[in-house]
Amino acid sequence: QATTEIDLSKILPGQAIKTSFRKQPLFVRNLTPAEIAAADAVPVSELRDPQSLADRTKPNKKNWLITMGVCTHLGCVPLGAGEGENKGPFGGYFCPCHGSAYDTAARIRKGPAPTNLVVPDYAFSSDTTVTVG
Ligand code: FES
Repeated sequence: QATTEIDLSKILPGQAIKTSFRKQPLFVRNLTPAEIAAADAVPVSELRDPQSLADRTKPNKKNWLITMGVCTHLGCVPLGAGEGENKGPFGGYFCPCHGSAYDTAARIRKGPAPTNLVVPDYAFSSDTTVTVG
């Protein structure tokens, strides 16, 4: 299947889900205002893979962070998208394989991963539905 529909209506602020897109893990996260503020507080020029949260989300939908759930080091599935999972020292995702830590915009902040978690192509088909792919 080329595209995947995601129902956002049941993902509360502060929650993330793990689903799949083209047989790979996909993370969908509803960021809290504090998580958005934390991402926006980081100078982009200091980042290993310099992107702002706005670069990684859609206009007026900054709370919806949609990324592949595949560590950009060697492809493990990071933790942080399930209830009680270890979000790591930067509050986003944490890859247990070799300790890559991602922030609340899923940008790499520490550890061996070279780049941010990948944002796939997607579009909002309604306020509560996203089509990925
Ligand atoms: Fe994630 Fe190595 S695969 S840190």
